[in-house]
Amino acid sequence: MPKSNKSEIEKIEIDLLLEAINSRYGYDFRNYARASLKRRIINMVENAEVDHISELIEKVLYDPEFFDRFLIEMSVTVTEMFRDSEFFLALRKNIIGILKTYPFVKIWHAGCATGEEVYSMAILLHEEGFLSKVQIYATDYNFHSLETAGNGLFNLEDVLSYETNYVDSGGKKKLSDYYVAKYKSAKFYDFLKENITFTHHNLVTDGVFGEMHLIICRNVIIYFNKELQERIFSLFNDSLIRDGFLCLGAKETLEFSGIHSKFKLIMNKERIYQKESGLSYAEV
Ligand SMILES: C[S@@+](CC[C@H](N)C(=O)[O-])C[C@H]1O[C@@H](n2cnc3c(N)ncnc32)[C@H](O)[C@@H]1O
Repeated sequence: MPKSNKSEIEKIEIDLLLEAINSRYGYDFRNYARASLKRRIINMVENAEVDHISELIEKVLYDPEFFDRFLIEMSVTVTEMFRDSEFFLALRKNIIGILKTYPFVKIWHAGCATGEEVYSMAILLHEEGFLSKVQIYATDYNFHSLETAGNGLFNLEDVLSYETNYVDSGGKKKLSDYYVAKYKSAKFYDFLKENITFTHHNLVTDGVFGEMHLIICRNVIIYFNKELQERIFSLFNDSLIRDGFLCLGAKETLEFSGIHSKFKLIMNKERIYQKESGLSYAEV
């Protein structure tokens, strides 16, 4: 079969597969960025030992457990603690002081994966003496990741490798002060998650989280096409208070979106935006 024919057929098969998943389970992947989505679907074809993408349709329709595996495969959960340490340093130095002017603060980590980013935030807030004044909502559409996040139990070797990130992010103690090491695991202390709610939320289909002061959604929208990114930016705009902060991943930007003019980029490298209105960042 000529190559162009093959990729045309694969496109049809992927469209049909995504339609089937949306109709059967309400998970809508139709506006995920196609290249990485296709790579992961091809992986699924290889793992399921079938010849064609279309053979996955029957499997997802009739076998919810297979769909569960599909969901895990589609969700790239790569993460680490204090990832891009300069981002956490910027939060610590420039943003937390502003948040402290509010009596109570709400933070939303959208696409929190297995929670390493959220525990990093809790440690930072604790060191800044502000953890008890904050409610953190940590959401993802992947139930398995959320379960890991809720347990606060991570691979010890991975956690040991985050010590450098922690120091570079302005950490005031040692990362090992926040967990108990047992065999090959690190269990983070429960006080860190007292004010964290881990909950399911699908950015494609679910609604607003009200009155947030800070939204962190890093390395998530990179997997979405422009149309879906627009929806999510507008969701974030509606979820933020005036002067609230929006933080994206290093390779993500608001620049080409319809709500660009409603936000000010206040830290370029760290991708920290502030919703326009009232006092400007410089005036605070
Ligand atoms: C690469 S991880 C990013 C984790 C963390 N924010 C970080 O930067 O280290 C991307 C996460 O986005 C989640 N995700 C993908 N699509 C989503 C959706 N529609 N709704 C909610 N979460 C989604 C995935 O399940 C995954 O956990």
